[in-house]
Amino acid sequence: MGSSGKNMLNIIITFVILPLAIANRQPPIVDPGILTQSKSLGECQACKLFVESFKKGLERTSRGKYEGGDAAWEEEKLKLSYKRSEIRLIDIQEGICKEGKYSLQCHHMAEKAEEFIETWWAQDPDENTDLLQYICIDNLKVCCPQHHYGKDCTPCPGDHENLCSGNGKCRGDGTRKGNGTCLCDPGYTGENCDQCMTGYYLSYKDDTKMLCSACHRSCMGGCRAGSQKDCVACKAGFAFDSDEGCLDINECDDVNKCTKNQFCMNSIGSFTCMTCDKSCDTCHGDGPDMCRKCAKGYIKKGEFCIAEREDEDQSEKLTTTRYLTYLGLLIATGILLPRSASLGSIVGAMVLSYIVGAEYYCMINGHMGLVDLKNYDLSQIFQT
Ligand SMILES: *[C@@H]1O[C@H](CO)[C@@H](O)[C@H](O)[C@H]1NC(C)=O
Repeated sequence: MGSSGKNMLNIIITFVILPLAIANRQPPIVDPGILTQSKSLGECQACKLFVESFKKGLERTSRGKYEGGDAAWEEEKLKLSYKRSEIRLIDIQEGICKEGKYSLQCHHMAEKAEEFIETWWAQDPDENTDLLQYICIDNLKVCCPQHHYGKDCTPCPGDHENLCSGNGKCRGDGTRKGNGTCLCDPGYTGENCDQCMTGYYLSYKDDTKMLCSACHRSCMGGCRAGSQKDCVACKAGFAFDSDEGCLDINECDDVNKCTKNQFCMNSIGSFTCMTCDKSCDTCHGDGPDMCRKCAKGYIKKGEFCIAEREDEDQSEKLTTTRYLTYLGLLIATGILLPRSASLGSIVGAMVLSYIVGAEYYCMINGHMGLVDLKNYDLSQIFQT
């Protein structure tokens, strides 16, 4: 059969050509997470992946190939011969273990399973055979039936309907690994996961089921129930109150908690010191509007502390530029006016309205203006 040759080709592609192709394109980036994740996949899990993938292959090829065959009877004959053919098995195996991040482990398992698959295929098998049982449990011996563990598939101890009190699982359940003891869910402890861990309390119990729930976050040690009043003791950052139980301490009430250039932020069970904005000397929050006192070089303007120099400089510069622009425009008009009275007066009117507009804009935005325009009637200016 040609499938081992095909496998060889697959291996060459996977291990030689592909890595080379990738390495040529960009420097290889190895994500350490992928390596450790791959290792964490057990052999039984890999075998299950392979079986799932093989079943999908069976499905994919179940309708047969319809190449050639003109007449219906011919087609039917081809379909029948394809169903149990080596060709179909190869078609299945070619498409196997292609998906998911564990495809390498899946391929590895597929190689191990190949001889058993071929034997099975040769027997004209029922396609509904439990392949998990046949491959992974009986032949490759990497899995066990449900609720069995270890290399001899020992039954998990206890009631199989309610293993580990329903709050955990038998170590190695369904695999050839583990020792059958209970691995409890978070919050549960005890040989049979029938006790609550420290920090949890019994919130429900009947004949078959028990539930443990987490204590309130303010509790230290255990608790009787779920509220902050039920704590055995309070955690650091909480103080006991005879009415309310464990209450958050507001560390920020102590003004000396943080240094001079910081403000204090309380949080449940703790607090943080944050640096004030650079415009503040002392502050009660974040930003230039939360200063108690402005830093050196900054002055208070409304709620904000703003840079002293910067503010003056900038408005001075702006005003100077503005006046120079007006001057330029007026000179241009003056040059133009003697040459053409009509054109000059039009340009003059435009320049005038520009200046009036600009000054008006400055005024409503709080800048210093040339004149206080509120005293003038704008229409009067335009009529002249
Ligand atoms: C079973 O295995 C767990 C974890 O691997 C270990 O902690 C425990 O001690 C083992 N128990 C026995 C009885 O061997």
